[in-house]
Amino acid sequence: MDHFLYRDGALYAEDVPIADIAASVGTPFYVYSSATLTRHFKLFDDALAGTDHLVCYAMKSNSNQAVLKLLGDLGAGMDVVSAGEYLRAKAAGIPGERIVFSGVGKTAEEMRIALEGGIRQFNVESEPEMARLSGVAESLGKTVPITVRVNPDVDAKTHEKIATGKAENKFGIPISRAREVYAQAAALPGLEVIGIDVHIGSQLTQLEPFELAFRKVADLTEVLRTDGHDIRRLDLGGGLGIPYERSNEAPPLPIEFGELIKKTVGHLGCEIEIEPGRLISGNAGLLVAEVIYVKDGEDRQFLILDAAMNDLIRPAMYGAYHDIIPVVEPAPGGEQVKYDVVGPVCESGDTFAKQRVMPQVGTGDLIAFRSAGAYGAVMSSEYNTRPMIPEILVHEDQFAVIRARPTFDEMINRDTIPTWL
Ligand code: LLP
Repeated sequence: MDHFLYRDGALYAEDVPIADIAASVGTPFYVYSSATLTRHFKLFDDALAGTDHLVCYAMKSNSNQAVLKLLGDLGAGMDVVSAGEYLRAKAAGIPGERIVFSGVGKTAEEMRIALEGGIRQFNVESEPEMARLSGVAESLGKTVPITVRVNPDVDAKTHEKIATGKAENKFGIPISRAREVYAQAAALPGLEVIGIDVHIGSQLTQLEPFELAFRKVADLTEVLRTDGHDIRRLDLGGGLGIPYERSNEAPPLPIEFGELIKKTVGHLGCEIEIEPGRLISGNAGLLVAEVIYVKDGEDRQFLILDAAMNDLIRPAMYGAYHDIIPVVEPAPGGEQVKYDVVGPVCESGDTFAKQRVMPQVGTGDLIAFRSAGAYGAVMSSEYNTRPMIPEILVHEDQFAVIRARPTFDEMINRDTIPTWL
């Protein structure tokens, strides 16, 4: 459920007409709903009620500081994967004791920044990383809590580019070598082994792969405890999918995910962390664009928008589906047309949808991509020297620009031409 609904014939974000935002900031833009963000965070938080837990929002999905502040005020922790994300979370007011540091290639500098600023735990992904973290922590006179991310070799049954829990993926240490790696970690100075981490992929639409992974983590917890490790925290990652194609997808709900966690690892008495990203921010955002031209091709009509693949890369990168709806509510029984929906960038991959059946729209009309709040703005670029588009946050009947569109001068002046030229 989200808070982007038609009312009196027009699409609204909460109590704000989308057309009013477009008139104020111009198109294209991203718009997020505070109410949807809040609702989705609480679904996870409530799903783990009765268990000692922390919902660490995977901020890679949408890292605008206004979004982080809103979630932080609700009690969220953050899952960060770079020094930039760490510092951004801190700038948004998230205390270090609620930040976990994930990622397969943390540098010594990133470790130092997080150790100096305060960190809840590092999720370590390899033996060389363990050794480096030990060295950095020691040099700062600190001991840092760690979990080791295990790769359970489970098929997440999702798009291959976002599956992370198979043996062939670069993530985590093979679960078969976990005992040996934990023994090494325990022997290293500067590290305190406190738990296990697992994350098998993103946009999972079934519970079964989670169940397989969590059961393996539960078994490993018992084994490691008999080896003498004080395993007291389990980070079970993120990955719960959302219904991009509303008509035919119904992924499991956070409450079912919570029940699965309680069923599979609840008996261990561990503190639970989860790292959802997409389910919190995805359906809390729209990308709004204007139709620049409707162009007749040989055998098809092209809807050419002012938004492009540089603004929303998911269709080009993963063949992802996003619902596209007009901002003016279509009349019931109105004409449905087949379009190739494209952007202005100079490559054929700049296609949002092929042969999409949708209500007829014309030049100058506004359309909205649904489910664009996660992995939308954060994955955008300035390809074709197109300015990054603004982000807007709505709260009831108010809206605020939470990232402004840069001017052309700001963009162009970032380059420097060497004196010898
Ligand atoms: N934790 C870790 C360690 C992760 O790598 C990820 C996502 C998450 C949590 C959050 O997963 P989520 O709940 O959002 O599914 N750009 C791709 C998605 C990449 C996901 C990367 N890792 C897309 O647009 O579909």
